[in-house]
Amino acid sequence: MKLRSIEEANFENARVLVRVDFNVALNNSAEVEEHFRFDIVKKTVDHIATFPGVKIALLTHFGRPSGEPRTTGQPQGESQAAEYSVAQIASAAARSLGRKIVCVSDCIGAPVEEALGKLDSGEVLLLENVRLHPEEEANDPLFAETLAQPFTLFVNEAFSVCHRAHTSIVGVPKVLPAYAGFRVLEEIEKLDQVRLSPAHPAIAVIGGAKIETKLPLIRAFEENYDAILVGGKIANEALDEKIVFSEKVLLPRDFDSSERLDIGPITTAQYIQVIKMAKTIVWNGPLGKFEEKPYDRGTLAILQAMLETDAFVVIGGGESLAVAEKANVMNKIGFVSSGGGAMLEYLSGHTLPGIEALKEERSL
Ligand code: 3PG
Repeated sequence: MKLRSIEEANFENARVLVRVDFNVALNNSAEVEEHFRFDIVKKTVDHIATFPGVKIALLTHFGRPSGEPRTTGQPQGESQAAEYSVAQIASAAARSLGRKIVCVSDCIGAPVEEALGKLDSGEVLLLENVRLHPEEEANDPLFAETLAQPFTLFVNEAFSVCHRAHTSIVGVPKVLPAYAGFRVLEEIEKLDQVRLSPAHPAIAVIGGAKIETKLPLIRAFEENYDAILVGGKIANEALDEKIVFSEKVLLPRDFDSSERLDIGPITTAQYIQVIKMAKTIVWNGPLGKFEEKPYDRGTLAILQAMLETDAFVVIGGGESLAVAEKANVMNKIGFVSSGGGAMLEYLSGHTLPGIEALKEERSL
């Protein structure tokens, strides 16, 4: 079943709730360094804003307030609310969107109604972190009604959280007419292209940590890719656990040292030979401890080799993005997926609850 596209919606005089993923990292001075997650929603916000009389509110999660507090011993309550408040990211979001952003102290109830009433044309609301309400992660139907109450339409522009069956992702589309934003549509189109009909030779480069999260992806690529090049911590884990793969999966033959913090020169040269022939490349996860020099050598050499091919290159995952951003090559990559966990799950062949929720027939 086709996704309902934002292009099918009439936003005239609508009150639109747009689910975004502004779950950006802050540096030690509590500043936002990453702009990608803001930049990718601009096209959707600009499109909705062209309709007369429309009012737009952005809704995001920010961190995991229900998990361990970031500062040990910090009491729950007000200080926790400040630590997880989206007020910290509002000015960075406003810069990327090129619009005035008005922060709202909650994402439900009277504060939202009041702010919508006062909103001037051209401005957008940024509602407070939806995960400050535990009902968000509980996928609570009553909370879905409460979130939806001030609005008439819903747009999901948060591909990177579509693998979570949370209220604002799967519950709200049951209550409001719901559409996929431009970025969500593009993610599905590009990921379907490399998943279902890749140009061959098709090569996957898989690194990073936690073999249990990457194994389903390697298994999926074993089905229809020509080679899977494995590095990073997961290669060590696969070797130590003696995991059996088909001949398509290449594991490192040598490392930088006995600590195995990076792939070695023989492996790097072998992987580059394979990459040179590729017509499709999917990359997720660094091949060594890239954040510490000189263990970024293998990852940077492989990235460089990918960019020298004429292959369609797709990358995803926070660490791969960080490597590409640091190397200043984001604009040379065919498609940069915003999804970490969501991309892994989608490319592993799983359906994403947030995407399925935008397909269901409703009689609203
Ligand atoms: C991400 O950063 O991958 C998304 O924002 C999802 O965040 P989560 O893993 O806390 O659900």
